[in-house]
Amino acid sequence: MRTRICLHWKARPKTRLEEFRPLAYLSLMAVREILTVPNPTLKEVSKPVDTVDEELRSLMDDMLDSMYAADGIGLAAIQIGVPKRVIVMDLDWGNGERNPRYFVNPVLSDPSENTLPYEEGCLSVPTYFDEVERPDRIRIDYLDYDGKPKTEIAEGMFAVCIQHEMDHLEGVLFIDHLSRLKRQRAVQKVKKLVKQREQDNAA
Ligand code: NI
Repeated sequence: MRTRICLHWKARPKTRLEEFRPLAYLSLMAVREILTVPNPTLKEVSKPVDTVDEELRSLMDDMLDSMYAADGIGLAAIQIGVPKRVIVMDLDWGNGERNPRYFVNPVLSDPSENTLPYEEGCLSVPTYFDEVERPDRIRIDYLDYDGKPKTEIAEGMFAVCIQHEMDHLEGVLFIDHLSRLKRQRAVQKVKKLVKQREQDNAA
């Protein structure tokens, strides 16, 4: 079975977004630049977080704002240039709802033998999608937004998303699971896109 999932780029109506975000919230938003391939920072291995404090929560807030602004459903801190083991996610974002989740120092274990191919995308590899096969069920231990330890069993799209984001913490991108040819094609596509955006902005 082949399921198409755009891991970070779920479409949602623009008008809806305006309804969600009152002006007061907009003014507090801190949208940071998301790094794209081949930026070498994306290859860095992120370091564990010592304490979940206000500073870290502020980082998580910024990450969530940046993810929403880019129409994503998952983001790792390294994607905004911060090498900390922190992930934010919202699997309901594309459905017009908000259900933000935060994972600090996440650890995955007990992957299922059963794997499923999913069509993945990444905010650091914009407009490129390809199929990656991963276990469809996995255990995750982490600290939440308040620093409390949690354990969950992730399945389906949640399992795919958390594994994709965990890869970022190890400096691995979903295109690293593909052939060299496909990976080169993806990087070329992104380079071209970034150049085009720069030209558009300058115009
Ligand atoms: Ni990604």
